[in-house]
Amino acid sequence: MTSSSGKQRYYITTPIYYVNDKPHIGHAYTTLACDVLARFKRLDGYETHFLTGTDEHGQKVEKSAEKAGVDPQTFTDQVSQNFRDLTAGFGFSQDDFIRTTEERHKKACQALWKRLEEKGFIYLGGYEGWYAVRDEAFYTETELVEGPNGQKLAPTGAEVEWVEEPSYFFKLSAFTEKLLEHYETNPDFIGPSSRRNEVISFVKGGLRDLSISRTTFKWGVPVPGNDEHIMYVWLDALTNYMTAVGYPDVESGIYQKFWPADLHMVGKDILRFHAVYWPAFLMAADLPLPKRVFAHGWWTNEGQKISKSLGNVIDPFALKDEFGLDQVRYFMLREVPFGNDGDYSRHQMIQRINSDLANDIGNLSQRVLSMIFKNCDAQIPTPGAYTEADQALLQQAEALLPALRDHFDRQSFHKGLEQVWDVISAANRYVDEQAPWGLKKTDPERMKTVLYVLADVIRQIAILVQPVMPESMDRMLSQMGVDPEKRSFADIGLSLQSGYALEKPVGVFPRFVEEEA
Ligand code: MSP
Repeated sequence: MTSSSGKQRYYITTPIYYVNDKPHIGHAYTTLACDVLARFKRLDGYETHFLTGTDEHGQKVEKSAEKAGVDPQTFTDQVSQNFRDLTAGFGFSQDDFIRTTEERHKKACQALWKRLEEKGFIYLGGYEGWYAVRDEAFYTETELVEGPNGQKLAPTGAEVEWVEEPSYFFKLSAFTEKLLEHYETNPDFIGPSSRRNEVISFVKGGLRDLSISRTTFKWGVPVPGNDEHIMYVWLDALTNYMTAVGYPDVESGIYQKFWPADLHMVGKDILRFHAVYWPAFLMAADLPLPKRVFAHGWWTNEGQKISKSLGNVIDPFALKDEFGLDQVRYFMLREVPFGNDGDYSRHQMIQRINSDLANDIGNLSQRVLSMIFKNCDAQIPTPGAYTEADQALLQQAEALLPALRDHFDRQSFHKGLEQVWDVISAANRYVDEQAPWGLKKTDPERMKTVLYVLADVIRQIAILVQPVMPESMDRMLSQMGVDPEKRSFADIGLSLQSGYALEKPVGVFPRFVEEEA
């Protein structure tokens, strides 16, 4: 989004996480993808707002608190902290962390409710049907599947219970055509396209009005004017994206700057809520719709579905402790085409660390900086005239920024990284072809030019890879004396400063060696 001041803006959100559970790899994955995009946009000169947080109301959380033997507020305070710890532990750079139990959020939810009511899209009725607490979702009889013991289950496998209670309804059925028209005229609204097609066929099947209040428990935002009812947790939860930018104060600077959001990142399981219900609520309230919703896939563990009952939940902190934070960040975004399901395999993790990181980028920078250290009086050399080979490599590096913008705007992290690694491979081939070690005696000026070209290509790559591996790239850039103020994408065109005195270079990506059993 461009404002009148000309400054480009970017508002990105993660789903807010249920506080019934400890953070696992799935949570880390969604937030990581957003963190990378937020960092990318900041480095690209955008004023960025990156939001994450916790979803603390509803029956599922109330039940978990009951099970833990504490009141829901104490329970949510504790579990929400685990998610904050995850953001700190993974170096996530959110600008705000929202909790739906905050006063600002209650105010926003109630304001949105009143607006939907004023516009005539809410009516009182009675709900009779199936409800899955695990999914916090309503299901029709025809959607249910048969479980192993003949019991009825939600299509997600969650247990369902029969509910009969008075309920307010949202006139979702009035939005079937409008939504379809929106998907049609905004082809980028839902990504990836396979998921977009699924949503379109779901909506084409026709939409029924949606139950948006509950009366059989208390843990939620009271319905304005009738506190026998609390708001359906998904209406409450989705509103968080606007709460965080000041809604209902639509005149506020932050709302003006950042609403509508540029991207809601979600997992495939919650796309329907974001791509159908949420835009319908906003259309009904006559508020601007987010520009894009992207659904990523799910991780399995060594080929198996991840579940608590199988005991194969992957703890993101354990991964980080064993392999290193940047290594894990890189692996998650490089290993699996973003949008597809992916499998976590220890073997593949080690493979990526040793091949892409230690061998490719790690070795390149270590070789080049060591040669400069040994053969150029430990100073970044001054280059002479460039040959065609030099220019070809530099041009390949220069082409990366526009390519990455393109890939990252489509959330194709794997493709962006693949292209960066193509340049790393080209640089490694160039080292071998130019053989700077042999030039020391025969043509020391040419050796300096070759090493300078390489160091400058490494600088450009390190700047571009900062969003994915911030800490390692920081070290790589510091070793070459790149001013911390000169590491944004606008600085890529500046060349590396000759004459900077290097410390003895230290490898940034060690090989991972499996300990003997
Ligand atoms: N509270 C709702 C979201 C409300 S947003 C207005 C919710 N929370 S959740 O904690 O259950 O899930 C949050 C995210 O984690 C979802 O995007 C989900 O797809 C993601 N993942 C949960 N398990 C996952 C994997 N095994 N793999 C990848 N992501 C997964 O839903």
